[in-house]
Amino acid sequence: MKTETLPDCWQKLEDCLNNGIDRAILYGNPGTGKTFAGLTMKPTTQNAYRLICTDEMTTATIEGAYLPDETGFSYREGVAVKAWREGARLVIDEINRANSDVLSLLLAFTDTVASSSWQNPQTLEIVRPREGFSVIMTMNGEPEDLEPALLDRFTVQIKISEPHPSAPDQLPEYLRKPAKIYATLSEGERASLRAFATVAKLEPALGLDRALEIALPRQAREISSSIAIERQAENADE
Ligand SMILES: Nc1ncnc2c1ncn2[C@@H]1O[C@H](COP(=O)(O)OP(=O)(O)OP(=O)(O)O)[C@@H](O)[C@H]1O
Ligand SMILES: [Mg+2]
Repeated sequence: MKTETLPDCWQKLEDCLNNGIDRAILYGNPGTGKTFAGLTMKPTTQNAYRLICTDEMTTATIEGAYLPDETGFSYREGVAVKAWREGARLVIDEINRANSDVLSLLLAFTDTVASSSWQNPQTLEIVRPREGFSVIMTMNGEPEDLEPALLDRFTVQIKISEPHPSAPDQLPEYLRKPAKIYATLSEGERASLRAFATVAKLEPALGLDRALEIALPRQAREISSSIAIERQAENADE
């Protein structure tokens, strides 16, 4: 269903997810809601698994590993296998940070369903992705930084240039407008939803100006005056 006010990047994502696209890369500035969208924009009954890529991670997180238990060692399956088994959403965060071992394995786990299978090394069971399995990858850089084989599996790449319109709803009313405005400014001026959430947390005990000074020192003065102006305007209306 189309929401009139949805910014184009979010509309694109909805259009894709509503029309059977099950692989997408969301990229762009930090704190715009890419991970949140990956975890939540899906059929409500579907589970979501999150994989955060780092330089040092091993393939164990993805496919699994033998781990000690009461009987000696047994194979504990990783998040990608779990997501395959359940037909769940797999959110792969910071994909540009994955090392080459991890990338090679992710190529296998994100391939088209028809070409995908994995064998549990202990039980020798062959596992294939269950219907509904989908993958959203997120990153801050540009998709061109990724290897071509991975890009070929994720033909939809959407630059998320502003927070989802519903994201500032988590904030108190007085911070919603500044959060929307400051999220889209250029580097140096920009302020993410996370910083505004910190202001909201500190404000009741410390007052607005102090909260802004701590969480958003560069923009504090400007934001404080714009909130003051809004409040004056509201009082004048009443
Ligand atoms: N639609 C939304 N509704 C409510 N809260 C949201 C929404 N989108 C984002 N948030 C909140 O805003 C914060 C930032 O969102 P998120 O972690 O998804 O950003 P991101 O784009 O993945 O950032 P990064 O690139 O740094 O990983 C989180 O605390 C998240 O819970
Ligand atoms: Mg993220």
